[in-house]
Amino acid sequence: MIAVTKAVIPVAGLGTRFLPATKATPKEMLPIVDTPVIQYIVEEAVRAGLDDVLMITGRNKRALEDHFDVADQLEAALRAKDDEERLRLVQDATRLADVHYVRQGQPKGLGHAVLCASRHVGREPFAVLLGDDMIDRRDPLLTRMLEVRAQHGGSVVALMPVDAAHISMYGAAATELTGDSDVVRVTALVEKPAARDAPSNLAVIGRYVLDPAIFPVLAATPPGRGGEIQLTDAINTLAGGRIDDGGPVHGVVFTGRRYDTGDRAEYLRTIVRFAADRPDLGPDFLAWLREFVAEQDQPGGRPVSAEVRA
Ligand code: UTP
Repeated sequence: MIAVTKAVIPVAGLGTRFLPATKATPKEMLPIVDTPVIQYIVEEAVRAGLDDVLMITGRNKRALEDHFDVADQLEAALRAKDDEERLRLVQDATRLADVHYVRQGQPKGLGHAVLCASRHVGREPFAVLLGDDMIDRRDPLLTRMLEVRAQHGGSVVALMPVDAAHISMYGAAATELTGDSDVVRVTALVEKPAARDAPSNLAVIGRYVLDPAIFPVLAATPPGRGGEIQLTDAINTLAGGRIDDGGPVHGVVFTGRRYDTGDRAEYLRTIVRFAADRPDLGPDFLAWLREFVAEQDQPGGRPVSAEVRA
C-alpha cells in the first residue's frame, strides 16, 4: 500500500467570523500568543511524518508565504543584535517543511479547495488538516488516523462526540462498530443536520486521510449546503460504496484536546490556555488572571456587558 507523505491545508476561506481582522490577514495567521495558528498546523503534519505540505490559498496568499519563507532583512537585523533566540524562531518556520501553494481562485467550499490539490497530490493517499482547527500536540490524532489507513486502506475521518445541540454545526456520521474501541466504520455522513435528523452525535472535525479516489468524486459533486462544494458530501459517496475503488471510510473517535480557532470564543480560550502553559509567561499571566476574575466576581466589580454575554 502507498504510504501517505503529503499534507494539504486549505486556507482560502473568507474568515468572515473574524472580520475586520481578516479583511487583509488570513485567519490562519492570527496568533496564539506569539505563533500563528498555521504554524501549529504545519508542525502537527511534520510530527506525523508529512513534510510535503500544500496550502490551498486565496487572495490572502502573501502573509502565509512570507511566514514560511526566508526573511533576509529581519534575520540580518537579529544577527546584528546577537539575538540568537529570536533568529532561531524566525528560521524555524522556514525550515519546518517543504511548503507549496496553489490558489483556489474563488472560495467555493472546502470540497472545491481539496479538489485544487489533485495535481500536486496525484494518485497517492494524502492528509487534509483544516487551517483553523488545532489538535493538541499531546494527543497525536493524525498519527492514529494514518495507522488506521495503513490497516484498512480507503479514507479516514476524525470524529468527536459533541452535545446533541451542537451537531448542526458539523458533519455528522452514521457508524458501525469495529474491533477497535476508537475506530468505527462510517456508513454515511450528513453535513450540518438539524439535531433531530443527525445519525449520531459524532461530529466530523478538521483532520482527514483521503484516498485519491476522492478527486473524481469531488469533481462530480454538485454544490451542496450553502451553495458550496462540500467535502462531507464527497466522503459520503465514498462511504456509501457507490464507487468501486474508493475503499471503506473509517472514523477515529477523538476525545482529546481540540481548539477550533475559527470561532472567536474558542480562539480566546485557546490563547488563555497556551499563555497559562508557557513557562516564560504562564506564572505572571495566571496570577493576573486570578486577580482579574476575582475582581469581576466582586459585587460592584466591572459589570459584564450584554454584548459579552451574547
Ligand atoms: P471555514 O468554513 O471554517 O472557513 O472552513 P471560513 O469560511 O473561512 O470561515 P468563516 O465561517 O467565514 O469565518 C474551514 C477551513 O477551510 C478553508 C478555510 O480557510 C478554513 O481553514 N476553506 C473554506 C477554503 O480553503 N476554501 C473554501 O472555499 C472554504
